[in-house]
Amino acid sequence: MGAPATINGKEIFDLLRDDLLALEQEFGADTVSRVQAITEIGEYLRHGGGKRIRPALLLLASKLFGYEGRGSVRLGAVVEIIHTATLVHDDIIDEAKTRRGRPAANTQWGNSKCVLAGDWLYMQAFKIAVQERNFRILDTLIELTQQMVEGELLQMETLGKAITLEQYFDLIYRKTACLFSVCMRLGAILGGATPAQEEALANYGHDLGMAFQIVDDTLDLTASEDVLGKPVASDLREGKATMAVIHALERCTSAERSKIETILGDRAFIGLTHADILGILDRYGSLEAANHRALKYAESAAKLICTFPDSEIKRALLWAPEFVVAREK
Ligand code: IPE
Ligand code: IPE
Ligand code: MG
Ligand code: MG
Repeated sequence: MGAPATINGKEIFDLLRDDLLALEQEFGADTVSRVQAITEIGEYLRHGGGKRIRPALLLLASKLFGYEGRGSVRLGAVVEIIHTATLVHDDIIDEAKTRRGRPAANTQWGNSKCVLAGDWLYMQAFKIAVQERNFRILDTLIELTQQMVEGELLQMETLGKAITLEQYFDLIYRKTACLFSVCMRLGAILGGATPAQEEALANYGHDLGMAFQIVDDTLDLTASEDVLGKPVASDLREGKATMAVIHALERCTSAERSKIETILGDRAFIGLTHADILGILDRYGSLEAANHRALKYAESAAKLICTFPDSEIKRALLWAPEFVVAREK
């Protein structure tokens, strides 16, 4: 009998267990400084219970080519550290109180220390990446970091406003899909992929990341805080219009539009409750539209790896898009 056609999350975890353990050790060793505040903040963030999706993708991409070196663990730590640094800065910018079900670092150490800890983490990530002695890897990571910072800035400039779908897709590319794509690309580079294989995997990461962020944004509207680990409907309260809201804004009555715009502008639910918003989204099928778009991206991701020979790793990469659209947190 051949190998089973599908694989589940636990099997993927088993597949990556040793590498993920090595990754935690690398991450731990990498975030120690002689300055205690940095070590403390680093430890707090590392223990926060992140899903480690990005390093898992990088590991899978490298393993698709049979890569067995230490570079994938090191670069896995690099992408997770960059992700962590963006979250620390993001929570300061968004004045977030909760992250991963716990007080956000900024509420514990204050903004000033957290800005510096985030800067330190960025530089530490590059210090580790330099060990690969590979300019393409560095170019990729520099371009990524600038895209992410630009994304945060562009988002800030559109806060409180009804943006277009095109602007939304550009923002979520910069915020999320770019990093997912880079994870796949770095794994491909380590594994010695051909340029065509590298592009296919980078595009897979892109599409998966787009799906991931669209789902993240619908969960913000529909999930409960207990499950999500952060307050719900926070995007609206932060003045952010996400896919379902943009979809509804393009279809609703002018009275509904001005109500939604008031929430975005005031960054508070004034004159309208969260349930009222869900009612409007429901009326125009906006949550379905967003979920449908996420599903399309997920399908497109899966298609991009069809040409790779069958293996456990390929099945894991086929499972990831399903997980992303089905996730509840
Ligand atoms: C959170 O990413 C930031 C977004 C891109 C929405 P994750 O949902 O992967 O965060 P953790 O690392 O698992 O907490
Ligand atoms: C996540 O952005 C931060 C980055 C990926 C740069 P958001 O502000 O939209 O996400 P959450 O809701 O805080 O995780
Ligand atoms: Mg935020
Ligand atoms: Mg933000």
